[in-house]
Amino acid sequence: MTVQIELGTQTSGMPAAMDLEELLATRLLVQGNSGSGKSHLLRRILEQSAQWVQQAVIDPEGDFVSLAEEFGHVVVDAGSSERDLQTIAARVREHRVSVVFNLEGLDSDGQMRAAGAFLNGLFEVARDIWYPMLVVVDEAQLFAPTASGEFSEEARRVSLGAMTNLMCRGRKRGLAGIIATQRLAKLAKNVAAEASNFLMGRTFLDIDMARASDLLGMERRQAETFRNLDRGQFVALGPALSRRPLQVAIGPVRTRGMGSSPKLMPLPEQPTGGAAEELLFAAGDASPLVERAAPRPIEATGVLRQLSEARPLPDGDPIAEDGMDPQERDAAVAGILADMLADPDAAYQAVAILYQDFQVRCRIAKISPPPDLPGFRERLAVARAGGAAGGVDNEDWARATAIAAQLPDTMRAAYLLLARAAAQKEPCPSNQAIATAYGTRSPGRARWLLGYMEENGFLACSNDLRGRRVIAFPELDWRTEPGDPNGAEVAHS
Ligand SMILES: Nc1ncnc2c1ncn2[C@@H]1O[C@H](COP(=O)(O)OP(=O)(O)O)[C@@H](O)[C@H]1O
Ligand SMILES: [Mg+2]
Repeated sequence: MTVQIELGTQTSGMPAAMDLEELLATRLLVQGNSGSGKSHLLRRILEQSAQWVQQAVIDPEGDFVSLAEEFGHVVVDAGSSERDLQTIAARVREHRVSVVFNLEGLDSDGQMRAAGAFLNGLFEVARDIWYPMLVVVDEAQLFAPTASGEFSEEARRVSLGAMTNLMCRGRKRGLAGIIATQRLAKLAKNVAAEASNFLMGRTFLDIDMARASDLLGMERRQAETFRNLDRGQFVALGPALSRRPLQVAIGPVRTRGMGSSPKLMPLPEQPTGGAAEELLFAAGDASPLVERAAPRPIEATGVLRQLSEARPLPDGDPIAEDGMDPQERDAAVAGILADMLADPDAAYQAVAILYQDFQVRCRIAKISPPPDLPGFRERLAVARAGGAAGGVDNEDWARATAIAAQLPDTMRAAYLLLARAAAQKEPCPSNQAIATAYGTRSPGRARWLLGYMEENGFLACSNDLRGRRVIAFPELDWRTEPGDPNGAEVAHS
């Protein structure tokens, strides 16, 4: 079977195709300066081939997590221990699930170690699960650097070894490496040399150009054309692409990256004195609630969906069959949740899995029927945020939870954690605390999450001069005290 995927269009207007089966055997190297469109190109390949082949993306910047929404990739956070990462990688191969391995927020040493562990996990599996798989590595020079840098020799050894395995010995095991780099001269030679297909984008530096023409077996003069390419244009060459250098304009993508280029816009006139602060922190009326863009839905991944669909959910029956009165019931349910969350790992578990545990505990406590999944999510969000806010007017807190309910359910606990701190005039929680409420160990995800909530009008972040963060909730007229974003505290007491 040959499967052709469409990369985009040739200058003649004809479609430019890539032979997926050939690619599995011959690998691909993508080179181009920052902003030349490499990540877009990788996304195009991933989207076009998602239905045909299993995929793993090594994603240093959290750029590809949006593939989860539309294509069901499972996002694996790199914050776990190296042993756990190897186990997860082996399961990925066993169950043939496509994944995005998110390394955002780790320092270079941590990124190298995590990527090394994960890639080795994909590589070292039993022969009977050597199914074909695309392994896409963006910014590959980070994982296979030529020179030493801000990382330990040990981390470099692990990560370079794993990249070499992927590119040199992966084929037999079903792994097809697709690597992209902005600095060809900084990518280890043996790793680059194993790719037989090339997509060359805009390249400025002579030293990168020289490496490219060596690899492609081109005259330097011919490689000079790489300087004149526009964003999104690449020269294709190789058995899966074209026998002669072919210029291709990469086609559009369906999902969105996080890293779209910033555009300059004129600033509005600056208010003076306390007026600017007033603008940010003044109480808003209820209207922004209506005008706010609906949050992008964050769909459960295929695996979690399967898990939650596996058992039919009981309807939210208003009359509890266990005969408990509602208050007694609430207290019992709250007790079960508190017990569950006392386990430090509970913060990082998927809701669908926690819900199964919860249902069992309810059965033992003779609570019947247990709250349904949406009800459980709501209570879990409040419990993860450290419970309802003591000393805050009930009606105000109810408004906060109503606003939280407009967020994707994975984000509610983090929102309520922040709202609770603001309502009680406490310091703004750290990235670590926010990340924990979001179910991840990566502080980088906390920054992303705040950006998301700010963009969608849920809150406004600002810093004081000491770099401490203040978060305001315009609709609730609450704001936190300044807090250190890099503080170490995790759990809210
Ligand atoms: N073929 C293309 N069509 C439309 N937009 C593109 C294309 N290639 C890149 N872009 C846009 O240009 C910007 C930079 O592209 P990106 O893929 O992030 O570059 P790189 O990864 O090489 O730094 C992004 O905003 C991206 O959406
Ligand atoms: Mg990029």
